[in-house]
Amino acid sequence: MKVDGRWRRTIERDGDAVIVLDQARLPFEVAWLRLTTLDDVARAIRDMHVRGAPLIGAAAAWGVALALREGHALDHACRVLAATRPTAVNLKWALDRMRTARDAEAEAQRICDEDVAGCKAIGQAGLPLLRDGCNVLTHCNAGWLATVDWGTALAPIYAAHEAGMRVHVWVDETRPRNQGLLTAWELAQHGVPHTVIADNAGGHLMQHGRVDLCIVGTDRVLRTGDVANKIGTYLKALAARDNNVPFYVAMPASSFDASSDTVEIEERSADEVRAIAGIVDGKPARVRITEATVANPAFDVTPARLVTGYITERGVVAKV
Ligand code: MRU
Repeated sequence: MKVDGRWRRTIERDGDAVIVLDQARLPFEVAWLRLTTLDDVARAIRDMHVRGAPLIGAAAAWGVALALREGHALDHACRVLAATRPTAVNLKWALDRMRTARDAEAEAQRICDEDVAGCKAIGQAGLPLLRDGCNVLTHCNAGWLATVDWGTALAPIYAAHEAGMRVHVWVDETRPRNQGLLTAWELAQHGVPHTVIADNAGGHLMQHGRVDLCIVGTDRVLRTGDVANKIGTYLKALAARDNNVPFYVAMPASSFDASSDTVEIEERSADEVRAIAGIVDGKPARVRITEATVANPAFDVTPARLVTGYITERGVVAKV
């Protein structure tokens, strides 16, 4: 994808380090973070400087490579990284690959390159679902920023845009961390028309025929076909079903968890709900909006019965 008109990946090797686009500072500032140690990578994942299931996996892979260079044992590196975030199965998937890799750096690079190819394939697979002039609703950020390149849910939209199709995206704000602002930022970088909406607006827009289809990403698709994704996804799927709007999940192979039918839902800090990031007096700042007791479950599970189909690298798997 393009950042300020230049093609970049979200994670790139830079000599003995890796550099990542710092998503904790977007969309207010564009800054790259240099990661050189296991601790750097673990902190970047935990504090969401890098986020989005496929990118978490790719960053963890590089975390192992950097850890081995520092002299850490493989087991220790994998344990530290596995403990950073519990819901995205891509993290475990990447660490499993790193455990058996002969050359850690080559394997980390391969995971990144495969992610780019896989996301591009998801884009091509999902392209026939879109029509000229259509309106797509998406939740959270499952775009370029959440992967190494192209994104998952946004990949078909980028493919359509590249093919000259006019597509407009309704972007859910996605409280509490507002990943929708990341989606708006990257769509703007690429010139794709979009409108940010409050999370509560989607049902209304669907009722009034203003959404042709929903495409979301996923942190883990269980063997039942149930979909763990950013909190609020389930409500969108319910509204879509009630309004006969197709609801698609873009899903790379690394997000499929064939081994279980439950998932741990990450509970994040109350401060993410109590404060909101923005610009104050021209500078990035956080504003407290409540001191109340709050809960902050970061993901929910959408039952497979509400999913129209899964957009994979190999094509669209429709529900029967
Ligand atoms: O908490 P986040 O921002 O890492 O959550 C991201 C999501 O829920 C995405 O929709 C999901 O990881 C798919 S990204 C291609």
